[in-house]
Amino acid sequence: MEWFTQFLHLFFIASILIRSKAIPNQIPKHHVVYMGNSASNNIHINGQMPDSTHLELLSSIIPRRESERIALIHHYSHAFSGFSAMLTESEASALSGHDGVVSVFPDPILHLHTTRSWDFLASDLGMKERDTPKYQQHLSSDIIIGVIDTGIWPESPSFRDEGIGHIPSKWKGVCMEGHDFKKSNCNRKLIGARYYNNQFASSGKKTLTTEVRGSPRDSVGHGTHTASTAAGARVENASYYGLAQGTARGGSPYARIAAYKACSEEGCSGATILKAIDDAIRDGVDIISISIGLSSLFQSDFLDDPIAIGAFHAEQMGVMVVCSAGNDGPDPYTVVNTAPWIFTVAASNIDRNFQSTIVLGNGKTFQGSGINFASLTHSKMYPLVFGEKVAAKFVPASEARNCYPGSLDYNKTAGNIVVCVNEYPTVSRKIKKLVVQDARAIGIILIDEDSKDVSFDADVFPFSQVGNLEGHQILEYINSTKNSTATILPTSEVSRYRPSPIVASFSSRGPSGRTENILKPDVMAPGTGILAAMIPPSNEPGSVPIGKKPSMFAIKSGTSMACPHVTGAAAFIKSIHRKWSPSMIKSALMTTATTYNNMRKPVTNTSNYISNPHEMGVGEINPLRALNPGLVFETDMKDYIRFLCYYGYSPKNIRSMSKTNIKCPRNSSEDLISNINYPSISIKTLKREQKAKVITRTVTNVGLLNATYNAKVLSPEGLVVNVTPNKLVFSEGVGRISYKVSFYGKEAHAGYNFGTITWLGGRHYVHTVFAVNVK
Ligand SMILES: *[C@@H]1O[C@H](CO)[C@@H](O)[C@H](O)[C@H]1NC(C)=O
Ligand SMILES: *[C@@H]1O[C@H](CO)[C@@H](O)[C@H](O)[C@H]1NC(C)=O
Ligand SMILES: *[C@@H]1O[C@H](CO)[C@@H](O)[C@H](O)[C@H]1NC(C)=O
Ligand SMILES: *[C@@H]1O[C@H](CO)[C@@H](O)[C@H](O)[C@H]1NC(C)=O
Ligand SMILES: *[C@@H]1O[C@H](CO)[C@@H](O)[C@H](O)[C@H]1NC(C)=O
Ligand SMILES: *[C@@H]1O[C@H](CO)[C@@H](O)[C@H](O)[C@H]1NC(C)=O
Ligand SMILES: *[C@@H]1O[C@H](CO)[C@@H](O)[C@H](O)[C@H]1NC(C)=O
Repeated sequence: MEWFTQFLHLFFIASILIRSKAIPNQIPKHHVVYMGNSASNNIHINGQMPDSTHLELLSSIIPRRESERIALIHHYSHAFSGFSAMLTESEASALSGHDGVVSVFPDPILHLHTTRSWDFLASDLGMKERDTPKYQQHLSSDIIIGVIDTGIWPESPSFRDEGIGHIPSKWKGVCMEGHDFKKSNCNRKLIGARYYNNQFASSGKKTLTTEVRGSPRDSVGHGTHTASTAAGARVENASYYGLAQGTARGGSPYARIAAYKACSEEGCSGATILKAIDDAIRDGVDIISISIGLSSLFQSDFLDDPIAIGAFHAEQMGVMVVCSAGNDGPDPYTVVNTAPWIFTVAASNIDRNFQSTIVLGNGKTFQGSGINFASLTHSKMYPLVFGEKVAAKFVPASEARNCYPGSLDYNKTAGNIVVCVNEYPTVSRKIKKLVVQDARAIGIILIDEDSKDVSFDADVFPFSQVGNLEGHQILEYINSTKNSTATILPTSEVSRYRPSPIVASFSSRGPSGRTENILKPDVMAPGTGILAAMIPPSNEPGSVPIGKKPSMFAIKSGTSMACPHVTGAAAFIKSIHRKWSPSMIKSALMTTATTYNNMRKPVTNTSNYISNPHEMGVGEINPLRALNPGLVFETDMKDYIRFLCYYGYSPKNIRSMSKTNIKCPRNSSEDLISNINYPSISIKTLKREQKAKVITRTVTNVGLLNATYNAKVLSPEGLVVNVTPNKLVFSEGVGRISYKVSFYGKEAHAGYNFGTITWLGGRHYVHTVFAVNVK
C-alpha cells in the first residue's frame, strides 16, 4: 500500500504544478455566462430577448478564426438573462469583466441525491387521509409542479389522469416528442415534458456522452420516482414485489406534473439545469422540485451555483423552489442548496423497516436490514466464511475483509455465505454485493453500523446488513467453530416501527459552509424506504424475482426522496391558500413542524442522541397543521437583496439581479444576515464579552383578525434570550407586528446553543428555532 500512497502524493503534487502554470488552459470548455435579471438591461421582443446581443458579445471575445464557437449552447432569456458557450479560460475571464455580466463559471456537474410515507405523515403526525378537505380535489388540480430530474416514464399508473379536469389556462409549456416519446404520452396529469441536448457539451469525458437521440423519457428512474412522490395519482395495491404494499399516492395527488429532463445516469449539467429552471418559470409552473446538488466538497459561491441563481429568479417570479439537502451526512458542513430563497430538505426514516433474518448454525438469529427476494429457507444451511479468510493470493487481508473488487479467492467463496465489513466506505454496498455475487457465493452478510438504517436493495441476491454489535457476535461464532454455517431469509416488512422519525444517517448536516447566519437544512421529510413509481426493470437476470411480473414501483432512499414530499406538501397548501407567496408557504411548513417522534419523545439521530437543528432543521413537516399556521414570516425580495448586500456582492451585480436601483446599506456585513426575516434564527458568532445581540423579526397574521400571542422561550442554560414585546396583539388594521430577540451569552456553553421561541395564541403555536454559536 505504501507505494500507492506515495504515488498518490506525487500525483497530487504534479497536478498542483500543472494547475499553477502561468498559462491558463486554452482548451475551450462549456461555461455559463450569467447576466442578471432578463429585464434589467435588454430589450424584449415578444417577451424573448434577441440572441443577437449575446452573439455580439461572444464575437467580441472569440477570435474570428474560431467562429464556429460563436454559438449559444443554452440561451437564458425568460426569467433571467445569459447563455452558455464554449470558452477558453482567458475568454471566460475577459467576459466576466464585461459590463452587464454578473458571473462566468465552468459548467459544473451536479449529482442526483439518490405509499406509506404519506400515510405516516398523516396518521402519526396529523394528516389522516379522511381528514383531507373534500375541496382539495378540484382545487389542487390547478397547481403545476415542475420536476427537474432524469425525465419521466409516462406509462406509469401514477401518471394517469382519471378524474382530473382540464389543463389550467396559465400553462404555456410543451410536450416535446422524442424517438420514444409522443405528444400523446402527455395527458391532464403529466401536462408537459421537455428534454435538453448538450447535456454534457464540453465535459470531454467519454462517459458523459451527449444523448444523440433526445427524449423526455426517464431511463434512470430517479425522475419518475420523485415526480410520483410529489404528485403521483392514487394507485391501489401498489408494492415492490409484495413489500410496502398499499395505496401509493403523491403528496398532492391532483396536482399537475411537468417533467424537465436535465440529467442522465452520470449526473446533470449545471448549464442545462439553469435552462430548465428558465423554461419552467416561463411555462407557468407554481413549484419547482430539484433533488439534485453540487458536491458538498466543492461548494462554489452562490453566483457560481446554477440552482442558487435559477431559484433566485424563480422566487422573484413567485415560483417556489424546493431542493434536497444532499446525502453527505452525518458530517457537519455537508448541506448543499443553502441559499435563503431555497427550501432545503433533510431526510428522515418512516415507521417501516425491511428486515432480512440471519440464522446461524448454532441456532442464533439476527434481524439484519436489507431488501432481497431470494428463495433461501430455514431448512438448508450454507458454509459461512469471513472475507479475510478467503482472500485471493497476494491480497492483503484488510482488502478481502472489506470485499474489495478482486480480493476474494473464488475457489474458497463458491457456495458460501461471505461476511464483509465496511471499514473504508470507498467501496459501496452495491459493489461489495457484486464482488461477492461474482465470486459465486450464495449470499453476503455486511457488517456496517453507519448505513444500517437505510435498507439496501439487493434484488434476488441474499443480502443482510447488521451493526457492529451483532457483527461481532457473528464473527465470534465463525471463530468458535471449524464448521460455521448460516442462511439469510428473504425480506419481511416491519410496520409501525418505533421510534420514527429518526434523522437518516446519510442526510447532509448543517451548518452551511457558505454562511452560518442562516439555519440549514430547513425541514425534514421522509426519505428512507420510499415506495414510488419506477421505470420497468432491466432485462438483466436477477432484476426480477422468479415468477413475478416486473414491478412498476420501487423502494428508494435519499434526500432526493424527501424533497418531493415537501414539494407535494407545498402544492397542497398552495391549493388552499392560492394567494400565499413561496415564503409564506415555507414559513407555514416550518413553524408547524414537529420535533417529536411516534413515541412522543424528542426526535433522535441514528446513534440515539436527541437530534439538533443542524441535523433535522426545525423538524419533520406536518402538512395538515401547516394549513393553519396562525402567523407567518414573509421573507420578501427586499430581504434577499439585503442578504446579497450583507454577503458581500457588489451593488452593481445586485442591481443587475434584482432589477431595482438599490444601494447596499453602508454598514453591510455578514453578521447582519441573521436579521433577514427568516422563519428560523442562526447566529454564527456570539462573543461572550459582547453585549446582547439583537435580532429583529416581523410576523404576519394569517389567522383570525383579532388574535393575541404570547412568547415562550426555551433556551439552554446560560444563554439569556429575551423577546420584546413578548405579547403580540393583532386586530383589524394591525396585521403585521415586529419584535426583537436579544441573545446574551456571557454564561453560555461554548459552541452551538439551540433553542426555540414559540408564539402561543389560541389553538396556534408558532415554533421558531434558533442556533447561536457562542465563542
Ligand atoms: C393486491 O395484490 C395482491 C397480490 O399482489 C392480490 O393477491 C390482491 O388480490 C390484490 N388486491 C386487490 C384489491 O387488488
Ligand atoms: C448523533 O448526535 C450525537 C450528539 O450530537 C453525535 O455525537 C453523533 O455523532 C450523532 N450521530 C449521527 C449518526 O449523526
Ligand atoms: C481455482 O481452482 C482451479 C482448479 O483447481 C485453479 O486452476 C485456479 O487457478 C484456482 N483459482 C484461484 C483464483 O486460485
Ligand atoms: C477471531 O480470532 C482471531 C485470531 O484467531 C482474533 O484475532 C479475532 O479478534 C477473533 N475475532 C473475534 C470476533 O472474536
Ligand atoms: C457441519 O455442520 C452441518 C450443519 O450444521 C452438518 O450437516 C455437517 O455434518 C457438519 N460438518 C462437520 C464436518 O462437522
Ligand atoms: C447601519 O446603519 C444604519 C444607518 O446608518 C443604522 O440605522 C443601523 O442601525 C446600522 N445597523 C447596524 C447593525 O449597525
Ligand atoms: C375584533 O375586535 C374589535 C374590537 O374589540 C371588534 O370591534 C371586532 O368586531 C372584532 N372582530 C372580529 C372579527 O372578531
